Amino acid sequence: MSQIIVSGEKKLEGTVRISGAKNAALPILAATVMIDEPVVIRNVPELRDINTMLSILQKIGKKVTFEHGVVQIEPGEILLGNVPYDLVGKMRASFNLFGPLVMACGWARVGKPGGCNIGQRPVDYHVEGLKRFGLKIVEEHGDVFGEIPAEFDSHVEYELPFKSVGATEQLMTTASLMEDSEIVIKNAAEEPEIVDLQNFLNKAGANVSGAGTDTIRIRGVKKLHGSEYSVIPDRIEAGTYLLAGVITRGNVIVENVIPDHLKALLDTLKKMGAEVTVSDNTVRVEVLNKLKPVKVSAEPYPGFPTDLQPIITAVLSTIEGDSIVEELVFENRFGYVDEMNRMGAHIKVKDRRAHIKGTRKLSGAEISAPDIRAAAALVIAGMAAEGETIVHNAGHIFRGYEKLKEKFNSIGAYLRVYPDEE
Ligand code: EPU
Repeated sequence: MSQIIVSGEKKLEGTVRISGAKNAALPILAATVMIDEPVVIRNVPELRDINTMLSILQKIGKKVTFEHGVVQIEPGEILLGNVPYDLVGKMRASFNLFGPLVMACGWARVGKPGGCNIGQRPVDYHVEGLKRFGLKIVEEHGDVFGEIPAEFDSHVEYELPFKSVGATEQLMTTASLMEDSEIVIKNAAEEPEIVDLQNFLNKAGANVSGAGTDTIRIRGVKKLHGSEYSVIPDRIEAGTYLLAGVITRGNVIVENVIPDHLKALLDTLKKMGAEVTVSDNTVRVEVLNKLKPVKVSAEPYPGFPTDLQPIITAVLSTIEGDSIVEELVFENRFGYVDEMNRMGAHIKVKDRRAHIKGTRKLSGAEISAPDIRAAAALVIAGMAAEGETIVHNAGHIFRGYEKLKEKFNSIGAYLRVYPDEE
């Protein structure tokens, strides 16, 4: 069980270089199973979740190397359509391999992921959409089994019941190899990671358009070919460092970012009274005046990102006055609130809303992290608190933040990690 020990009352000042986006790299890596030529993906962050995906790719037959942020994938002798539950159970995003593997192997059997600490997280939209596209799918013994049909319909439309990021990615990737078929996904998620996946697929010869809007159109092609691609910067990592700058009333610059992807966060920071300066690929946030409480609603993009919801809640709990944070994506993403209250925060959750009574100072405590973003929230809360904070069960954080200790300590934090994961 890893622990992060955070020294409190630090003021963060300096520049952090942002890594490639985990949530863009994962679906791109999943899509590579449909390509039986060499593929090179650059700007891939060295994280636990990425390593899990790469080891699955190796186990099903791909030849994979990963050095200095560059993943090279080559076809092996065979490609297996089987991804057992013990691998999917480690990381839900491995279910994104299902449709691509059916297209690549003619069939696939992938363990059905279970719930996790932020909600039930079913895959019914993935399965329903793929069935509409013509795949024959049955669920048996905890696995999802799928087969390719004799032929695909020439035109199919599917409207997602909710703007699911994973289902949009699964459906657009799978459809890109449905030769001679035109597929339209409505109520699609619009996240930048989906645009990145479209760009990758098109570079490999697919014909996908509309990503970044609520309607994505795919004209299936016969074959995808090898290509080189560089992943976008991680907007959630960038947001985490900016919010750490704010909670410590510091002055933080993130570089190598696409500021447009951070718009909802930057608008919120401005409303709170922080100074925000944007240039081509950097954003600076500085606290010069007393900060104000705000109301934030975590929603699908372009709304405020749910992945920053625990982190903004930590910040708002240090701003005097009443703030509200609403969570409209996951039904259970406030699991960290009791831990934050142990640090002296005053947060009450009712019906997917956190009511926060801001206090000037949090106090360091021993707490436990339920998931990646909650772990990040508790760590930055510790940087602003009086005394020392010990975050137990902190290993989650290494699924999502590359070189976390090194980056934070380079701008004035003092984190110690046991056992050292970096
Ligand atoms: N949902 C269903 N059925 C489905 C799919 C989704 O009911 O078939 C529900 C979910 O239970 C949830 C909502 O729809 O309530 C949205 O889920 P979505 O599918 O959008 O999430 P995801 O694809 O599983 C990705 C990110 C998450 C991020 C969410 C929302 C990856 C690998 N994960 O998850 O990232 O929170 O989109 O933006 O891309 C993280 O990085 O910490 C993280 C959890």
